[in-house]
Amino acid sequence: MKIKENDFGVLSNGKKVKIWTLSAGDLKLSLSSYGAAWTSLIVPSRNGIKDDILLGYSGLDGYLNNGPYIGVTVGRFANRIKDASFEIMGMRHALNANDGVNSLHSGPRGFDKLLWKSEAYEENEGVYVRFELDSPDGDCGFPGQMKAVVNYGLTKSNEVICDYQAKVDKPCPINLTNHAYFNLAGEGNGNILNHDVVLYSSSYVQVDKTGIPTGNIVPVDGTIFDFRKRRKIFLGGSFLKPFRGYDHCFAVDGERGKLRPCAEVHEEDTGRSMAVFTSQPGVQFYTGNFLKNAAGKHGSVYGKHSGFCLETQHYPDTPNQKGFPSCTAAPGKDYHEKAVFKFDVG
Ligand code: BGC
Repeated sequence: MKIKENDFGVLSNGKKVKIWTLSAGDLKLSLSSYGAAWTSLIVPSRNGIKDDILLGYSGLDGYLNNGPYIGVTVGRFANRIKDASFEIMGMRHALNANDGVNSLHSGPRGFDKLLWKSEAYEENEGVYVRFELDSPDGDCGFPGQMKAVVNYGLTKSNEVICDYQAKVDKPCPINLTNHAYFNLAGEGNGNILNHDVVLYSSSYVQVDKTGIPTGNIVPVDGTIFDFRKRRKIFLGGSFLKPFRGYDHCFAVDGERGKLRPCAEVHEEDTGRSMAVFTSQPGVQFYTGNFLKNAAGKHGSVYGKHSGFCLETQHYPDTPNQKGFPSCTAAPGKDYHEKAVFKFDVG
C-alpha cells in the first residue's frame, strides 16, 4: 500500500490545494483537498488494462468551475430542498436557491467549493485520507456550527471506503455524499447506457417534474424504476422525459443505518464490476443527463450520459418531509453514515 502527497495548485487567496494518491490492492485513488473530491480511480480491466473510471478534470481549474459537481463531496445537504427553505425547532431557515426556486446541493456555495483540511493515514488493511471542515453558524443558511469529518480510503480488497461524520451544536439536517461520475469502460470512453445495473430497491422516492418529492415512496414493481434484476439502463418512457434520464432517489432495501447492498454495475467489454453498499436510506441514481460537452481529463469531452452517479444519501427534501427517515443531527446526536464501493474484474 502507498500514500503520495502532491501540490494540486493554489487558490486566489494563496491557499495551497493538495492532491493525495492512495494505492492498495489493484486500485489507485486520487483525492483533492478542494471539495474533498475524488479526481481519479484507476481500475484494471479483465485484460489488465488500467483505465481511469472517474470523470474529472486535468487540473485544479476544472474543479474551480465544476458546474456538474464532478467527484466532489456534497454538504451540508446533498440533493434538493423545496423552496430553498425548511423549519426546525419552530424557526424557518432560508437557503440560497440555485435550481429554480429550490436549493440543490446546499446552494451555489456548498462544501464542494471549500478547501478541506486533509491528512493521510494507514490503518489495518487500507490507506485513507481524513478530510475536515468547520462550517460556521448560518453557513449557506443552515443553523448552528458543524464540524464535518469525511474519511475516504482504499483497502487491499479493492474497496473504496467512505465514512461521513458530523457534529453540530444546534439541530440541523445533514446529508453528506460523494458525487463521483463513473464510466466503467474508462472516462471519455463513450456513454454508460450499455452498463448493466442492479439496484437493491423495491421502492423509490416519487418526485414532481422539478425533482421535489411528492412525499410518496412508490413500489418499483412493473415500472421503469425496477432494477431488482440485472438489466441495461433503458431511458425510454415518458416518465423519464422531464429528467432526460434517471435522476431519482431509490429507497435501499434492508435495515437503515446498517451497511447493506445498494447497487451493482457491470461493464461487459472490460469485465469491470462495482458493488455499492450503504448505511443510508437511499441512493440517487443519476445518469449524467445534464452533462453538456464538459471539458474533461486529457482532452475528453463529456456529453450527456458519459458517466453515472450513485450518490448514497438521505432522501431529497427530508427537512420538509415529516414521513421520511430523519437526517437531523443534534448536540449529543452525531451524524454518521458509511458507503463502500467494491471493484471486481472478471
Ligand atoms: C442531481 C441532478 C443534478 C446533478 C448535478 C445530481 O445529484 O440529482 O439533478 O443535475 O446532481 O448537479
